Amino acid sequence: MDVARGTGSGRPPAVAVVGSMNIDLIAYAQRAPGPGETVIGDRFQSGFGGKGANQAVMARLLGAKVAFVGALGDDPYATMTLENFARLGVDASGVMRVVGSSGVAPIWVEADGTNRIIVVSGANDLVTPEHATEAVSAMARVDVAVGQFEIPQAVTAAGFAAARARGAVTILNPAPAAPILPALLAVTDWLIPNEVEFAAIGGSGADPTDAEFSAYARGTGTRLVVTLGSRGAALVGVDGRVARVPAEPVAAVDTTGAGDAFVGAFAVGMALGLPELDALRLGIACASDSVTRPGTQSSFPDPAAAAAILARIGRPG
Ligand code: ATP
Ligand code: RIB
Repeated sequence: MDVARGTGSGRPPAVAVVGSMNIDLIAYAQRAPGPGETVIGDRFQSGFGGKGANQAVMARLLGAKVAFVGALGDDPYATMTLENFARLGVDASGVMRVVGSSGVAPIWVEADGTNRIIVVSGANDLVTPEHATEAVSAMARVDVAVGQFEIPQAVTAAGFAAARARGAVTILNPAPAAPILPALLAVTDWLIPNEVEFAAIGGSGADPTDAEFSAYARGTGTRLVVTLGSRGAALVGVDGRVARVPAEPVAAVDTTGAGDAFVGAFAVGMALGLPELDALRLGIACASDSVTRPGTQSSFPDPAAAAAILARIGRPG
């Protein structure tokens, strides 16, 4: 299921993800319980998650060559995660093993698709900067490197620095929201928060304006995309102008992992050399498709559907 780059090289784009792996434990209920309350749920589903793993899998489903850097524990969840990567063709040679539990994420999804997530990091917290540097440096090629905030930021910074030294573009999804370490910002080309994360890192209100997006990108010296849920996403151009692209109109049943589908797909668009707005459209199309199905990675378009989306958005000439 490989797709060739548009650079004339005929090679699939190479994406490195430095990030987290979790097992998602998802309870679906009409509404989430309040403090001290118990509600009876409708359904339960477990599956593969973690922002890093989700973004890696979305990139792989679009045909990229994907290599993962992170840490798993010594429990059955670790074995299951490695089997999932092997089945999909994600290179896990950069995954280190530690003693203890792998990451887990209990998730509540309400009837309207709204989710609430608790991440218990486990092994994700124990990956080291030295390991990230070594693993990224050992990769055959890296066109784009992707990171999030579910592993220590110093590790992502080390992985990004190694990727940049090899000419890669770096994309940081600052999720869950936290202040960004200057050392990480210094090696980040693109930032992709959602609106809530943007408000936290950019100090804006709940409904940020184009002027706030533009000012933040100028201030950080990075490129900026902000995902806006059912309203799509906004991209700050090199000239500071903001383009807003609407989401595809769909009936959302579960938005868990939608942001990850967006980031993984946008990364492939960039690695393919698509025009930025087409990379944005690719992200939106994959993410909007994913919200129509339950689960996290299980909601992503399959390889045939992902290839159809890529063909619809356009390939580089
Ligand atoms: P997550 O629920 O995974 O935490 P997120 O908050 O990181 O997602 P959002 O900004 O909510 O990210 O959504 C990412 C993308 O998913 C949007 O840009 C859009 O393309 C798609 N999306 C999310 N919700 C909807 C929806 N209700 N209808 C259509 N598309 C949606
Ligand atoms: O973005 C969704 C992801 O957040 C889930 O897969 C969960 O594991 C948490 O990392």
